[in-house]
Amino acid sequence: MSELRSRASADDARFMAMALKLALRGKGRTRPNPLVGCVLVRQGRVIGTGFHRKPGTPHAEVVAIESAREDVRGSTLYVNLEPCAHYGRTPPCLDLILERQIGRVVVGTVDPNPLVNGRSIRALRAKGVDVTLGVLEAACRRMNEVFFKWVQTGKPFVTLKAGVSLDGKIAAFTGRSKWITSEVSRRRAHRLRSEVDAILVGIGTVLQDNPLLTCRGIRIASQPLRVVLDSALRIPLDAAVLGPEAESLVATTDRAPAEKVAALRARGVQVEVFSPDRAGRVPLGDLLRRLGEREIQHVLVEGGRGIFTTVLEEGEGDRLLLFVAPILLGGEEAPGVLGGRGAESPQEALRVFDLRCRRSGQDLLLECRLKSSESEESLTACPVDSKEPG
Ligand SMILES: NC(=O)c1ccc[n+]([C@@H]2O[C@H](COP(=O)([O-])OP(=O)(O)OC[C@H]3O[C@@H](n4cnc5c(N)ncnc54)[C@H](OP(=O)(O)O)[C@@H]3O)[C@@H](O)[C@H]2O)c1
Repeated sequence: MSELRSRASADDARFMAMALKLALRGKGRTRPNPLVGCVLVRQGRVIGTGFHRKPGTPHAEVVAIESAREDVRGSTLYVNLEPCAHYGRTPPCLDLILERQIGRVVVGTVDPNPLVNGRSIRALRAKGVDVTLGVLEAACRRMNEVFFKWVQTGKPFVTLKAGVSLDGKIAAFTGRSKWITSEVSRRRAHRLRSEVDAILVGIGTVLQDNPLLTCRGIRIASQPLRVVLDSALRIPLDAAVLGPEAESLVATTDRAPAEKVAALRARGVQVEVFSPDRAGRVPLGDLLRRLGEREIQHVLVEGGRGIFTTVLEEGEGDRLLLFVAPILLGGEEAPGVLGGRGAESPQEALRVFDLRCRRSGQDLLLECRLKSSESEESLTACPVDSKEPG
């Protein structure tokens, strides 16, 4: 009996890995929907596969069921995310699974969308369908972490990216930062831009570097929204970031002169006016919430130091990418990644998680998470907690 169970478990992991691989085929096109892949199996044979391509098209489960060349009754359905139980742009997958009498459903992770959140799993079990939950769960959660954060908090997932010298500086004492990192890293940074919905910088970076903030050298459906934090609207009207290559949004406060707001809007620039935070600046949390309402699920924060500091101090960051170049900049006045008051001692420092390192041309790319898996755990807490063996 136990031998049977362990064999079934190895198969479950194998077919779930296949579903994950299929899900990835929709990468970059499914937003605001999650990445979902599905495999239909009978007696160890794959009889149908599917993945979600883009909003408005059938869900992965529907594609897999419809693709089957034989009767699907009694088969096992593997899906990385809990099937939907509600009417969205398409009817609920739950109904189709019941109607076609699928015998067993293996789910990677619960869908934290309040409209689902364990409802399908409970409904399937209530109708006598055998449901196994939590196969390759960590990988399934990681695949849709951006969607999960957005659907649970209403705010986008926030990735911070900086290029630093080996001594931790993001610019020379003159303020110049072009270019700290290698061409390979800069190309990688453009790929990163292609994976997000918005790129965010502070007015200090715009005034110093005059960046374009577009994604270049990669084919993409649409450019990410460019967002500048500028409390008093110091931005020049001819700043490159306001050009026609992509949409631009300037987030400001009621300290901004009305004529400048009007002049920017007249040029097609979106201007969002907020009540200032206690420091008289753009309130970051409110801005992120506003972006979330616009279905912006992933924001890439590209600096500079002032913005990195606020994001970390306010606990709004999720992931940090540091491209570390083999140069030493030195200089008392040269800015490091973070400013602010700083930690009183190493014991008080902000601890990062899941730190990884790989090469990026001549540079090293350090990647880490800014929230522990415990907090991820609580983020994805749901009413379905019983995991079946396997
Ligand atoms: N190596 C890299 O990866 C990299 C990347 C980017 C930039 N840089 C370098 O970084 C330097 C610029 O950094 P910086 O610190 O001067 O400028 P910054 O971080 O780009 O912008 C800071 C400014 O943003 C405005 N702001 C509005 N709301 C804010 C908020 N909630 N929190 C923080 N700031 C807010 C503030 O000006 P107002 O009060 O006027 O609004 C603040 O002075 C440049 O030398 C640039 O070359 C390096």
